[in-house]
Amino acid sequence: MQLGETITQFITQEQRRTGGTGDFTAVLNDTLTACKAIANAVNKGALVGVLGSAEKENVQGETQKKLDVISNMMMLKSNEWGGHLAGMASEEMDDVYPIPDGYPVGKYLLVFDPLDGSSNIDVNISVGTIFSILRCPDGVTRPTAKDFLQPGTRQVCAGYALYGPATMLVMTTGQGVNGFTLDRNVGEFILTHTNMRIPESTREFAINASNGRFWEPPVKRYIDECLAGKDGPRKENFNMRWVASMVAEVHRILTRGGIFLYPKDTKDPTKEGRLRLMYEANPMSFIVEQAGGVSTTGRARILDIEPHDLHQRVPVILGSRQEVERVISYHTS
Ligand code: AHG
Ligand code: MN
Ligand code: MN
Repeated sequence: MQLGETITQFITQEQRRTGGTGDFTAVLNDTLTACKAIANAVNKGALVGVLGSAEKENVQGETQKKLDVISNMMMLKSNEWGGHLAGMASEEMDDVYPIPDGYPVGKYLLVFDPLDGSSNIDVNISVGTIFSILRCPDGVTRPTAKDFLQPGTRQVCAGYALYGPATMLVMTTGQGVNGFTLDRNVGEFILTHTNMRIPESTREFAINASNGRFWEPPVKRYIDECLAGKDGPRKENFNMRWVASMVAEVHRILTRGGIFLYPKDTKDPTKEGRLRLMYEANPMSFIVEQAGGVSTTGRARILDIEPHDLHQRVPVILGSRQEVERVISYHTS
C-alpha cells in the first residue's frame, strides 16, 4: 500500500512553483493542525464532555456551544506562535485578536468561522471550520479591524474542513480547488479530490423554506418554479436538501452540483443577511468560483463587496452556474 500525496507535499510543491517564501505554507500547516484537533474533539463528542451550550453569547447575539468556544481557542493557539501572522479575526470574537507579545509578527491575516453549523453538534450531524487568509497591509504590525476589511478578491487562500463521516479539507489558492481526506492513522490530509468542479446545471436546491414568507419576489419566484416541478415553467422535478451547515451544503454542491440560497429577507430588517461576509460568504465564494460556480447576493458578486464591518452579514446565493445566473436574472427583470 502506498501513502498518497499529503496536503503539506501539495502546498510545498505549489510554493516552489510560485516562488513563495514558505510563510504561507507555514500558516496553512498551523491551521491544518487546528482542524485535526477540532476533528478529534468533534469525533469524541459526549465521551469527552464537549457537547452542549457554553451559556455565553457571541458578538452576533448567538448562544455559543462549548465546541464553538473550544474550536475558536484551538484555532488561536495553533496559529498565534508561528511568526507568519499579524492578527486573527473570528466569528466568535468581538474584536481582532493580536499576536501575543513574545511571538514574532508576520505578514498574513487569518479570518475564520471556527465551527460552522453549530446547531448540528448536539445531534451528531456534520459541522465544519471555514478559513480565509489575507495579506496584512504593508507596514502594519498591529492590525485593527479596518486592515481586515478587504474584498474577497484579495484572499490568498480559502478553505474549509468538513467533519462528516470522513474529515475532509477543501481549499483554493486561486489555482482551482482540491480536496484532501484525513487519514486518522497517519494523521495527515491526503489528496483525494483533484481539481473539483461544480456541474453547470442542477436539479437540486437548498434553502431554509421556513423563511419563505420573508423572501423577496425574485427568490420566491425561483423556489415556486422549482417546487412546481414537471407541471411548472421549468418542466422538470427538483430535489431539495437543507443540512443547516453551510460547509456541508457547499461540499455537496462541489461534489454533485446544486444551488444554495440564504437570501436577503425581511425577517429581521436590521440584518442584511444571515451569513457573515468575512467568515463564511467570502471564503466559500472564492472556492465556488474557483470550481467554476457562481456566488452572488442576487444583485452583486460577493467577492467584489467592500466590507464595512468585520461581522457584516450578506445574502448568499451560490452554486451551479446556470441556476445561480437564473436567480440573478430574476433580480434584474
Ligand atoms: P454558525 O453555526 O457558524 O452560526 O453558522 C450557521 C449558518 C450556516 O452554516 C447555515 O447554512 C445556516 O447558518 C443555518 O441557518 P438556519 O438556522 O436558518 O437553518
Ligand atoms: Mn457559520
Ligand atoms: Mn460558527
